[in-house]
Amino acid sequence: MRVLLPLEPLDQTTRQTTADGAPAVEVLSAEKVFANGARGLAPIDLSIADGEFLTLIGPSGCGKSTLLKLIANLIEPSDGRLLWWRGDFAQVGQEGRRLAFVFQEPTLMPWARVEANVRLPLEFGNMPRATADPKVAEAIARVGLSKFNRHFPRQLSGGMKMRVSIARALVTDPNLLLMDEPFGALDEFTRNKLDDDLVNLSWERKLTTVFVTHSIYEAVFLSTRIIVMAANPGRIFRTMTIDQPQPRDQGFRDSPKFAVYCRELSTWLAEASLQSAGGGVS
Ligand SMILES: Nc1ncnc2c1ncn2[C@@H]1O[C@H](COP(=O)(O)OP(=O)(O)OP(=O)(O)O)[C@@H](O)[C@H]1O
Ligand SMILES: [Mg+2]
Repeated sequence: MRVLLPLEPLDQTTRQTTADGAPAVEVLSAEKVFANGARGLAPIDLSIADGEFLTLIGPSGCGKSTLLKLIANLIEPSDGRLLWWRGDFAQVGQEGRRLAFVFQEPTLMPWARVEANVRLPLEFGNMPRATADPKVAEAIARVGLSKFNRHFPRQLSGGMKMRVSIARALVTDPNLLLMDEPFGALDEFTRNKLDDDLVNLSWERKLTTVFVTHSIYEAVFLSTRIIVMAANPGRIFRTMTIDQPQPRDQGFRDSPKFAVYCRELSTWLAEASLQSAGGGVS
């Protein structure tokens, strides 16, 4: 495992792998130019290690969602390519190589109860009810909503709906979890609570997570590595490793180190915003 000084920036093309395994995702000079000619992302090189909690942060329009969608194979790069567990996307979905996406909006079916919403991805996979039901119950329990499994989304708070959305991702037993500003619309207290759960969850399940946020505190609390992006064109600006033990708790939030990371990240974000407004890399 790499040991780095807490605030040492990494080269943007740095490859990170666990000692015993291939990276979960490799982004190899992938860039994105949209049909209207807009340049969403300049060529990106990035390697995401198995078990890593990687956060993308940066000013609006810097390409965070575009990069996440490339990793989810929801869009294709205009040039360059991506590898998942050293192979192409065709083998994603196999045992040990499953991917799930959590969007900013919970995107639940309003007419279906919590349990039916969570069961949906298993139904898409034609899993028999007898096999699916215990998995659904376990995923709902994991997000603390067992008492609400017969509720409809309209009967739940924003934070609870987000939990349902996370349970719906967990039920597929993913290895790679992609989350685009999942807690952006929630109050800080609820967000902290969900962050606490997410830290434990990724640790327990050995998830590889790619997370997008605008919150410096959330990024520092959750991540093993943070990528600061800049815009015009979207690119990696700097990388920060948060070399702190996992799983983390309130003690980390209250520690002087946490404040140091946040201050440094805040400075980098300000620089990234300036560069974005300036329109390009020198
Ligand atoms: N489908 C599209 N067609 C054209 N341009 C697009 C498309 N999607 C994104 N873009 C452009 O690509 C750039 C990156 O967009 P993206 O949504 O990835 O940014 P972001 O970092 O996620 O921003 P935010 O923080 O506001 O969510 C922006 O300039 C955006 O306008
Ligand atoms: Mg976005």
